[in-house]
Amino acid sequence: MATYDDIYTEPDPVDPDTMANLGPLRHLAGVWLGNKGADINPKADGPEHRVFTERMEVQPIDPQTNGPQLFYGLRYHTHINAPDEENTFHDQTGYWLWEPATGLIMLTLAIPRGQVALAHGHAAADATSFVVEAKRGATNYGICSTDFLEQAFRTDSFRMEVTIHPDGTWSYSEDTVMQVQGKPEPFIHRDSNHLRKIAEPQPNPWLKRTQAKAAG
Ligand code: HEM
Repeated sequence: MATYDDIYTEPDPVDPDTMANLGPLRHLAGVWLGNKGADINPKADGPEHRVFTERMEVQPIDPQTNGPQLFYGLRYHTHINAPDEENTFHDQTGYWLWEPATGLIMLTLAIPRGQVALAHGHAAADATSFVVEAKRGATNYGICSTDFLEQAFRTDSFRMEVTIHPDGTWSYSEDTVMQVQGKPEPFIHRDSNHLRKIAEPQPNPWLKRTQAKAAG
């Protein structure tokens, strides 16, 4: 882990073009649809297997600095429905972040069960697959849940593997491992999907303003 003596001086200059500095995350920008999602979730009488349809919007944000640390990133929101159900099946929002200097990838995730996580991994800028992970109890890349979830569905770890395919589509497979109250073994809540692009991403706000200014 890098240590920093000067924690205030920011990198200068900073390139305003997020898409040009996103490393492997550039493949995730855009609006995506996948209708062959697969879910295994915990139910009282055992694991429930469901298929789902997912629409995910992933848009570039402006570069972000923590003192000397520089991140480029994407803001995402995914909305999932199960066939024949009007109510949302799963909703999730957060950021994908990339630190070009170190190859650090982070995923923040928030779901409206009262649960948040910060997962991380490392990859090369030209990688076409990468993994991010979070563990309950870690103060850096951890998981926080409501009191109810801590008691009933204690979520111990999260791991997501992303694969970029040569045709421009991408897929993910994620395991959320939880200890369900009264069960002897951990439960693996597993989700996967394959997403195809239905719209291109918008330029990040700073780049958009820079381009508008240049155009007069
Ligand atoms: C495509 C992604 C996902 C889908 C479709 C999905 C769907 C579901 C469904 C249908 C349930 C059962 C709900 C119920 O019976 O009330 C469930 C439970 C749960 N999920 Fe997910 N989930 C996904 C991802 C995640 C992720 C990423 C996390 C956390 C990192 C998570 C955490 C939980 C927890 C803690 C429960 C148990 C809570 C409960 O049943 O009351 N899920 N999920």
